[in-house]
Amino acid sequence: MKIAISGKGGVGKTTIAAMLAHVFSKRNYRVTAIDCDPASNLPSALGIKIKPKPLAELKDIIEERVVGPMGMYRLNPKVDDIFEAYSVYNTDGVRVLVLGTIEKGGEGCFCPENAFLRAILRHAIFKEKDLLIMDMEAGIEHLGRGTARGVDLLITVVEPGSRSVETLEKIEKLAYDIGIERIAVVVNKFVEGEEVKKLLEKIRYPILGLVPFCECFIRADIENKPPYELCDTKVFEEIANKLEEMLIEDRSGD
Ligand SMILES: Nc1ncnc2c1ncn2[C@@H]1O[C@H](COP(=O)(O)OP(=O)(O)OP(=O)(O)O)[C@@H](O)[C@H]1O
Ligand SMILES: [Mg+2]
Repeated sequence: MKIAISGKGGVGKTTIAAMLAHVFSKRNYRVTAIDCDPASNLPSALGIKIKPKPLAELKDIIEERVVGPMGMYRLNPKVDDIFEAYSVYNTDGVRVLVLGTIEKGGEGCFCPENAFLRAILRHAIFKEKDLLIMDMEAGIEHLGRGTARGVDLLITVVEPGSRSVETLEKIEKLAYDIGIERIAVVVNKFVEGEEVKKLLEKIRYPILGLVPFCECFIRADIENKPPYELCDTKVFEEIANKLEEMLIEDRSGD
């Protein structure tokens, strides 16, 4: 399953990506986490001190692998060696890659970076219990149609505020434009209240969970520790259960 995590800036995308990577790795999934945000900080949220080199640095290699004789593009460029060399594993065994600023390809972009990235994503998922989590930069404008094609689920992180809920509408449109059909929501920094309740009623997508506002997340960030070292994983276990249910539903529907 390939999951992309999006949402407005600062809503908690990286935190949620790290928590889910942790929970699924404990369930014996082979988790690959790709940091797709140029201002990359997923590695540190996963307890990695030395960041892997960004794949975007590979411009020449990408060119060489993707563009074949007579300038023809290879649909299946060789990526396995690069995938290994550019991965770093954390103590949970989560494989972490950093994308860097790899492509600005919009619709119909067949640039080498896009083809290469698609091959990387394909490579990350080839066994049943493989899970790919992509931590996106705020918004999803930079996700090209080709890259998005393989995304099974776009999790949009929403905080209880009208601006964040408005972003959800924008993301919905963008997702539709690039061919992502399935969207679900995680409400983060949740606090109880009538106003919040009303706001959340506007959300038309399945809500996977309500992650409470908790100082532990801020403390983890300040101390540069993975959030799962300081915060309760319970709600993330529930989110993971729902994701697993979705996965089983998908299989039986095939
Ligand atoms: N449930 C929560 N309660 C309180 N603080 C939280 C919660 N979730 C995340 N935070 C804090 O909010 C800040 C932003 O979180 P995070 O970096 O995960 O967001 P982001 O969406 O990835 O941001 P960016 O758009 O910059 O990539 C961090 O300091 C984090 O610790
Ligand atoms: Mg982030």
